[in-house]
Amino acid sequence: MLNVIVLAAGLGKRMHSQRPKVLQPLAGRPMLAHVLDTARALMPQRLIVVYGHGGDLVQAAFPQPDLLWAEQAQQLGTGHAVASALPWLADGSALILYGDCPLIAPATLQQLIAASAGDKLAVLTVELADPTGYGRIVRNDDGQMIAIVEQKDASPAEQAIKEINSGIMVAPVARLREWLPQLSNNNAQGEYYLTDIVTLAHQAGLGITSVTIHSPTEAAGINDKQQLAQLERAYQLRAAEKLMRDGVTLIDPARFDLRGTLQHGRDVEIDIDVIIEGQVIVGDNVKIGPYVRLKDVTLGDNVVIRSHSVLEGSSIGANSDAGPFARIRPECVLGEKVHVGNFVELKKASLGDETKVGHLTYLGDATVGARVNVSAGVITCNYDGANKFPTVIGDDAFIGSDSQLIAPLRIGDRAYIAAGSTISQDAPAEALTICRARDQRSILRWRRPVKQPKPQ
Ligand code: UD1
Ligand code: CA
Repeated sequence: MLNVIVLAAGLGKRMHSQRPKVLQPLAGRPMLAHVLDTARALMPQRLIVVYGHGGDLVQAAFPQPDLLWAEQAQQLGTGHAVASALPWLADGSALILYGDCPLIAPATLQQLIAASAGDKLAVLTVELADPTGYGRIVRNDDGQMIAIVEQKDASPAEQAIKEINSGIMVAPVARLREWLPQLSNNNAQGEYYLTDIVTLAHQAGLGITSVTIHSPTEAAGINDKQQLAQLERAYQLRAAEKLMRDGVTLIDPARFDLRGTLQHGRDVEIDIDVIIEGQVIVGDNVKIGPYVRLKDVTLGDNVVIRSHSVLEGSSIGANSDAGPFARIRPECVLGEKVHVGNFVELKKASLGDETKVGHLTYLGDATVGARVNVSAGVITCNYDGANKFPTVIGDDAFIGSDSQLIAPLRIGDRAYIAAGSTISQDAPAEALTICRARDQRSILRWRRPVKQPKPQ
């Protein structure tokens, strides 16, 4: 039986934030979410989160029913934190993870679990060029781990040790029940150190084993905003490398941000400074221009999204294009070969195949048929200040430039709305509908205004 305990009670003083540290976002999600994903990949019988500071906020952010919550009202040290989880533990082994150590890989943890073999204490260690701040791994002449000494308690000789404690361990639950009540806080920080169980295990003659990793980022903890940014970059580079390995062209992997998942076809090309959020699915030959943000969107084959466009919660059919400067808000469904041009805002709009909305337009709560031409500056007036109303436009209609369509409204198939019209009643199919303030006239003998001389 595997238990996973995630320590997440720390305040994270060095973040200088109102938000509990484990809720600080990494790749668009709380760092704890990454740790929980990793824990779940190991399919533990119990998954326990030790919470303290901002516990309500942390619990509210993770309503999933598979989590068990152990409160640690006062943060008296890592040993005390694990002790808070004891009542929840099932017999077997316990893997201890940190909520602020989000890049640890499941494969590494599996190695550590295998090393512990059910009855040994297994510690994940890291070789660091600069071990400052970490607990040092002390070994005897046989290379056997005998203690972990915290930076603040370490002698100069111990401080020279480059092998450090990542904090991640696997221990038999029966041993934890025995050892944790024995911990004392007689040390430089006055805390109950989890690391002291190494000494207890050694004294009892129990097996202690370790797995050493050499990637400094994988076991890196996040204490401040600088480390948060460093791990964000490390995460993003990994994500970019994986996409490139899978065939996605990234013009510059250092200028790409994945804050969710990207499912993709072949020959997808992504220009610089693109942000992918939520669940994005793109087909073959999709091209995404620079400075584009895509959140929860689906793009069909051969779709082109030009620069500076922002799309959210929508789907776009094959062979369509949008932008530059297109804004597609949630609940839009665009058919195939649709063209959306610059400075067009769409909200809850469906556009049929081959419909074109080229310039400077707002369509909200609109159902637009196929092969419709929406000219420049068309606006659906869908909101009366209290309620939203729908606009329905039939197939092959033509909406002239600078028309206002006052909803609720129906415009028939092949209807033609003259430019500059304010349409407030249904416009029938086939007909030309025109509604302008007055007919055009020209005043022949008129005088252009002249600039007044400035008073002396
Ligand atoms: C700890 C280890 C150190 C290791 C380092 C790796 C101990 C005594 N030291 O030191 O050997 O090199 O991590 O990063 O274990 N936490 C609680 N409740 C508490 C105290 C801590 O939940 O009472 C949580 C924190 O939120 C954090 C984790 O435990 O996620 C580590 O705590 P932290 O205070 O950062 O430990 P370090 O001093 O860095
Ligand atoms: Ca730490």
